[in-house]
Amino acid sequence: MSYDIAVIDGDGIGPEVIDAVRPLVDKTAKRHGFEIERTNYSWGSTRFLEEGAMMPENGIDRLAGHDAILLGAVGHPDVPDHVTLHGLLLPIRKGFDQRICRRPSVLFEGIESPLRGYSGGEIDFVVFRENTEGEYADVGGREHRREGHELAVQTSVFTREATETIVRAAFEAAADRESHLTNITKSNAQAHSMVFWDEVVTEIGEEYPGIEVERLLVDAASMDLVRRPEEFDVLVASNLFGDVLTDLGAIVSGSLGLAPSANITEGNAPSMFEPVHGSAPDIVGKGVANPLATVLSTALLLDHLGESVASDRLWAIVREQLAEPDAPRTPDIGGDATTTEVVTDLVSRL
Ligand code: NAD
Ligand code: IPM
Ligand code: MN
Repeated sequence: MSYDIAVIDGDGIGPEVIDAVRPLVDKTAKRHGFEIERTNYSWGSTRFLEEGAMMPENGIDRLAGHDAILLGAVGHPDVPDHVTLHGLLLPIRKGFDQRICRRPSVLFEGIESPLRGYSGGEIDFVVFRENTEGEYADVGGREHRREGHELAVQTSVFTREATETIVRAAFEAAADRESHLTNITKSNAQAHSMVFWDEVVTEIGEEYPGIEVERLLVDAASMDLVRRPEEFDVLVASNLFGDVLTDLGAIVSGSLGLAPSANITEGNAPSMFEPVHGSAPDIVGKGVANPLATVLSTALLLDHLGESVASDRLWAIVREQLAEPDAPRTPDIGGDATTTEVVTDLVSRL
């Protein structure tokens, strides 16, 4: 079996972590009897600075035929973030209807949470984030810029189709994990979109009578993810809330450098896998970016392709490495190893 993967390494530490995990992915494939064929797309801010666009006009069409996409990170200090992200990452998520963003937060054994008193395994939840609309809808505009009464409008968009998709995916995950679901909104203030969202949760919840649903407002949920993270299992939230809560989830589980992400489409188009973190301009070029978020994103990719044994193996060697106090680890999780040293050690564990 051979899989055809589009690789967009992007900006900043994106190329560092994507390059680093390559030998690990190749060896995993070999061990488990499949092949990974890569097509590298060097799209991103360097291309923007040279050619005026993050990707070619037919970029989405070129990605469409691949089995999956692996992405590093997007964002460059010399280009405004709304330009880079609206030029590459967001059009892919939207263009392929990657409505289901799945982001696990796991406190591994051997990792210290900044929260006192938690040990490995005690924090383990997954956020289901709507990924194509909501607060990220590209609907709005600016007017009267030079007239002293400037205005900006940014409209949120919530469709029944996308809301049902993400809510159903979250209920399915809660059913698989034999657990409960936490629905996170801001229905007290946003009386249209979020009350609609809550109604969809109630409707779909009727199909899952065994699953208990907890409802939290996003402000209280942010507090509770710090106060009692161990009680969360599956969370569902809109695009922006899910974005904020997953950086929080990453840090309570030890580091943004450990947090993977899957952007799943239900259609025939490719799904995309990427670390939760960005291009980290503060550490770029130093060789110390934690590659584990990308390793685990690759594990989510392999699972999505049906290679669940290979995927489980990647999770297992990451767990094993982190549990060993003397194994190499990057500075974000308290070590002094380089990106490459961490991956070389993982390769030897295969
Ligand atoms: P960031 O995630 O890039 O960095 C936040 C902090 O976490 C920094 O201190 C960084 O050094 C650290 N960090 C991130 N990844 C790490 C890793 N693998 N190992 C060790 N430390 C790591 O977020 P930011 O600073 O807000 O954004 C930087 C740029 O990235 C911006 O242009 C932003 O728009 C973009 N961004 C892109 C994505 C994406 O491509 N998916 C996600 C988030 C931010
Ligand atoms: C993420 C990032 C992106 C998002 C940005 C870079 C647009 O923060 O993947 O978490 O908000 O989705
Ligand atoms: Mn984010």
